[in-house]
Amino acid sequence: MTVELAAPQPLSATWTRRHLLDLEELSRPEIEIILDTTERFTDPTHKRRKKYTDLRGRIVVNLFFEPSTRTRTSFGLAARRLSADTLDFTPGGSSLSKGETFIDTAKNIEAMGVDVVVVRHSSPGAPHLLARHLQCSVVNAGDGAHEHPTQGLLDIFTIRQHKKRLEGLTVGLVGDIAHSRVARSNIHGLLKFGAKVIVCGPPTLVPPTLSQLGVEISHRLDDILPRCDVINMLRIQFERQRSGLFPSIHEYARLFGLDSERLRRAKPDILLLAPGPINRGVELTPEVADGPHSAILQQVTNGLAVRMAILYLLCGQPAGETHPLAG
Ligand code: CP
Repeated sequence: MTVELAAPQPLSATWTRRHLLDLEELSRPEIEIILDTTERFTDPTHKRRKKYTDLRGRIVVNLFFEPSTRTRTSFGLAARRLSADTLDFTPGGSSLSKGETFIDTAKNIEAMGVDVVVVRHSSPGAPHLLARHLQCSVVNAGDGAHEHPTQGLLDIFTIRQHKKRLEGLTVGLVGDIAHSRVARSNIHGLLKFGAKVIVCGPPTLVPPTLSQLGVEISHRLDDILPRCDVINMLRIQFERQRSGLFPSIHEYARLFGLDSERLRRAKPDILLLAPGPINRGVELTPEVADGPHSAILQQVTNGLAVRMAILYLLCGQPAGETHPLAG
């Protein structure tokens, strides 16, 4: 059943940003506004397809220069759930092949009346560049190894949903930290809420400079596992690695993969996350990925609500008027 709904009830704080570029720049209260707005878009029953009217007349465009399953489809679905019109730009077959620049491409698409550009790009800072050249809102859907703020938000939302708190939790980020924009967004977000963050992986995949952000560094999963309340298993990003950074996949899986045997060392209520896609049998064995501790598909479900919240906060109110969520 589809129902049309008015805006969620007012929140006590205000959102003033035009763009969502990274979690590093957001304050804790700003992240709390997003998480609380996400809560209002979450449908715990999954029985009703709620349709909101807040973005009626708005246009949201997906501008993805890298592959995506979860982020791209959930932004499209989120925009449609809010009654926006959507465009899906794909570089293949576009005039980029004739030499048109990234910025000219975006400006031409914006000229069709677009309100929000959701951009994924292999170059760190590409969304920030667009934000300087476009008048519309820009959302970072992943920029190289820099940040993936909506993934970080949905991870934090899922942790809060399961653990009812963030402060004082120990969260392990395991795997290819060096190439992971998800790791950076998790670190910036979680530290603002008083969680302890441990990054763990082979020395070649864990930049030692990360300790300057206030995280603990470990190269032994078996050592940190008993201390963690949450483990976020990050994918080995074979496509971003220029040379072999560990002896073999088998060796990596033996030392840093999570299987049922290793999971016995963890706390009984450990929460297991993975941003996806997962390399089954490398980071996680199938019985662990699909097992009782896993919230991997719950993350995807929450991702839709997070992206609805972001679009709603960025352009869900008439221009010049007080935001409907403002207290
Ligand atoms: N987690 C994530 O960003 O997945 P996609 O690459 O499929 O969007």
